Amino acid sequence: MEFFLDTADVDEIREIAAWGILDGVTTNPSLIKKSGRDFKKVVAEIASICDGPISAEVTAMDTAGMIEQGLALKAELPDNVIIKIPCTPEGLAATKVLTEAGIDTNVTLIFSAAQALMAAKAGATYVSPFIGRIDDTGHDGMTLIAEIMDTWSNYHWITTKVLAASIRHPTHVLQCIQLGAHTATMPAKIFRQLMKHPLTDRGLEGFMKDWAEVEKAGNA
Ligand code: G3P
Repeated sequence: MEFFLDTADVDEIREIAAWGILDGVTTNPSLIKKSGRDFKKVVAEIASICDGPISAEVTAMDTAGMIEQGLALKAELPDNVIIKIPCTPEGLAATKVLTEAGIDTNVTLIFSAAQALMAAKAGATYVSPFIGRIDDTGHDGMTLIAEIMDTWSNYHWITTKVLAASIRHPTHVLQCIQLGAHTATMPAKIFRQLMKHPLTDRGLEGFMKDWAEVEKAGNA
């Protein structure tokens, strides 16, 4: 599974990129607002830290506007920037045009398997189903990932990657792995939670204590 960071905070991106396992970054207008920085400058900096796909979202609501913004972002930003587009009829049409122009896309705000399939038909490189936001409504967001993965197994022509988004806790990631989702995008906090295990910490503490005694005995 690809692991993406869902943030526009460059300090967090540097921290997790240093682990050597960061595959990409997703941003959205809310994350750009939270960063307090200029949109294009912060995306360019993110793209210089992480080699993988960096999602930058269009904000036009009409197809022509989305295409224009997508082309401008591709022209002005590093090659690894991909264009994030909302799952609307206008977004599908823009996805098709940008795909035909050889531009990678991430169709976002997916809340049904039918939406995911339509985005795949438009040529999306990634589709982003939002797990946590479905959980917030009292339904089970993971069911959507299962439905999309079932759909993908029914139609082998689909090459679009399923990018699980709106991840709120480590169990979401583990369940996505079991379902075979291609990618998960998550906040830095979830990366840290996934790596942390009290038995690793306790085991290491024991090894280091014993090693100090080996050194003390002159046997290192
Ligand atoms: O980047 C899109 C998605 O991951 C947003 O998550 O936590 O705002 O629902 P959240």
